Amino acid sequence: MAGELWEGRFAGGPSEALQQLNDSFPFDRRMYREDIAGSRAHVRMLADVGLLTENERDQILAGLDQVEEEMASGAFEAKPSDEDIHTAVERRVTEIVGDPGGKIHTGRSRNDQVALDVRMWTRSEILEGIVPIVLQFQRTLLDHAQAAGDAYLPGYTHLQQAQPVALAHHLLAHVWALARDVDRLLDTVDRLDVSPLGAGALAGSGLPLDPSQTAAELGFSKPFDNSLDAVSDRDYVVETLFDLALLGVHLSRIGEEIILWASTEFGFVTLDDAFSTGSSMMPQKKNPDIAELARGKAGRLIGNLTGLLATMKNLPLTYNKDMQEDKEPLFDSCDTVRLTLLALDGMVSTVTFNTDAMAAQADSPYAAATDLADHLVRNGMPFRQAHGVVGELVRRALAGEGSLTELVTANEHLGAEAAQVLEPGQSVRQRTTPGGGAPEVVRTQLANAVDRVGQDQQRLAAALERLP
Ligand code: ARG
Repeated sequence: MAGELWEGRFAGGPSEALQQLNDSFPFDRRMYREDIAGSRAHVRMLADVGLLTENERDQILAGLDQVEEEMASGAFEAKPSDEDIHTAVERRVTEIVGDPGGKIHTGRSRNDQVALDVRMWTRSEILEGIVPIVLQFQRTLLDHAQAAGDAYLPGYTHLQQAQPVALAHHLLAHVWALARDVDRLLDTVDRLDVSPLGAGALAGSGLPLDPSQTAAELGFSKPFDNSLDAVSDRDYVVETLFDLALLGVHLSRIGEEIILWASTEFGFVTLDDAFSTGSSMMPQKKNPDIAELARGKAGRLIGNLTGLLATMKNLPLTYNKDMQEDKEPLFDSCDTVRLTLLALDGMVSTVTFNTDAMAAQADSPYAAATDLADHLVRNGMPFRQAHGVVGELVRRALAGEGSLTELVTANEHLGAEAAQVLEPGQSVRQRTTPGGGAPEVVRTQLANAVDRVGQDQQRLAAALERLP
């Protein structure tokens, strides 16, 4: 026998192929801190309800400390029977402390244990790993928005030049999208704030366990309401994968803009050498690989989400081994987002905005066509008619009948005063709707965005405070 924790029922050891397919230790060992913290809370509770003596409890706690040290230092020696992190820790504690080790799993199953570990791991990863970097990236964008002053560029729809907007306005659009990502991630943590420990394999226990005590010690607001749900639920993993996929889509769109803007054709940004790559063949090339990878990684983030949804979709209650497939996509999405965010933050924080090139494009007189129509509207003309008047002038200018400025100046409804809006830098100033693209109103928006990021930072700090 290879020493499986469940060998009693079996006449022989597991086949090699079964072991390789079944074992999750190679990837779930990264939850060792959570697993050990859960075991500490569990044995303290067992002692408090009289299922362990104080001496047994203390021996087990000392054993857990040693296993944690071994795991942290890399000294931990895995055995072939270490099917997953839960069996590995229990096996090693029992080797260290002898008989009392056999009591550690009293009233507990790996089904409630794994649910607990994954909840705790996800909670720390969101609060300590991901949200802080999103906030840092938002601050990078805020700094650029601040520094951009009144610089402006063409705004686009259909990737066709539409109306000029302040550069700060454009950058802040990404800040608000990221603020919703932060919101979603923190909401996910609020919702996963339930301890499953005490649910046992599925039905709870006949022993006098106290799930409220372990929940409180592990920093959860409450224990589970339904033991079946507690061991079957992986909503929090799916939700996290969704949050990360959508965050990844936002990063991908930012990446796509950097790629466009860094092209010779746009020339709106110059990338720092430290965050660009070269070509092995073409000496002149400077490539935006980080931005391209930010765009490319969104594919795997979406794949991780849809993969787990497909895994879960027809599982009967309660635990099924299929659910072991939750961890690799979770770890992968978290690692991917963290690394992408750090690299993208580096790239964006060192980028140079070529505001002259932006203004030159934005000052194309055609970009002010809507402002000419608005001028007519202010003088009482119905908008649809104004649209027609200006549209005809644009068509005639494009056909070479004169510059748009000449045609506007000569037009009976428009004239020299209206033509002033075609002067460089004039059109962008017209967009004064609150939340609009004129530099004057963008200043208010910038202050609001700074406030918002500050509030989210506080919400994060409060959530971190609740961690054990
Ligand atoms: N390694 C398993 C997982 O990740 C732990 C739970 C195993 N439970 C069981 N009854 N075999 O899902």
